[in-house]
Amino acid sequence: MIKKILMISGSPRKNGDGAKILKKLESILTESAEIECEYLFLKDYKIETCRGCLICQKKTGEKCPIKDDISIIKEKFHEADGFVFISPVYIRMISAQMKQLFDRLSFLLHRPIHYGKPALLLCTASYAGLGESLKYLKIPVSNIGMHIVDSLGVLSTAYKNKDEYKDKIHKHISNAAKIYIDILFSIEKPKPSPWELFLFNKWRYKAIYHRKEYPGDYECWEDQELLDKDYYYPTRINPILKRLIPFIVKKLILRLSKKIGYLS
Ligand SMILES: Cc1cc2nc3c(=O)[nH]c(=O)nc-3n(C[C@H](O)[C@H](O)[C@H](O)COP(=O)(O)O)c2cc1C
Repeated sequence: MIKKILMISGSPRKNGDGAKILKKLESILTESAEIECEYLFLKDYKIETCRGCLICQKKTGEKCPIKDDISIIKEKFHEADGFVFISPVYIRMISAQMKQLFDRLSFLLHRPIHYGKPALLLCTASYAGLGESLKYLKIPVSNIGMHIVDSLGVLSTAYKNKDEYKDKIHKHISNAAKIYIDILFSIEKPKPSPWELFLFNKWRYKAIYHRKEYPGDYECWEDQELLDKDYYYPTRINPILKRLIPFIVKKLILRLSKKIGYLS
């Protein structure tokens, strides 16, 4: 069955450096497997800045009071089997468009629905800031529960001027694409890393202990019957990590909850 990949770009340039990388990636992916790539340039969508009301996080259901194109994007997230996020580096950070997307989708961090979907993270920069930007980009994507297959920073200047650098990048993309395709078409969902187990338990215990303040989160975890699970889906977990990580995370969440006054 054909798999759909959503390629989300935070660049305001549809023919810019990142777009060239996406084209290359698309050709590798579509030549290797039954894959359909959809480009989503955030600049083409009307996405207002988050108003900070926290309604999406605190109320039940999806109740953002802003009526704009974010609903179209949410629909595209649902339809996608896998994701690519690409952003130019702007003052050593991801672009404002990309940050804004995650602010508006911040409820997805609390309420996992796209877990296990593979994601590839890419950033382009003229000369500096790739490390910081990719490190940042990993935060929302991994907290949403997506499985980050790889992350790659591309120096757009070197990519344009040096053939050997361009070849190196293409080789990296090609190797990453192979792993991405394997995960995308595998019957078994990806085995979680210790960090992914940590994040799963963080949001699970948060849903449990902040139930009064965030009833919608609790409801989402309860509806999906995830509250007493070891991970989002059945998978093999190292028996020591299976006990140790929830034990530590529970303690940390309890301590935090007491500190912020949610628990006495
Ligand atoms: C406002 C702005 C800020 C930028 N900040 C940085 C930066 O901190 N470091 C850097 O190396 N390049 C920086 N750049 C350059 C872009 O990251 C670089 O040209 C990138 O490859 C553009 O990708 P795009 O064509 O896909 O948008 C900046 C560009 C702009 C317009």
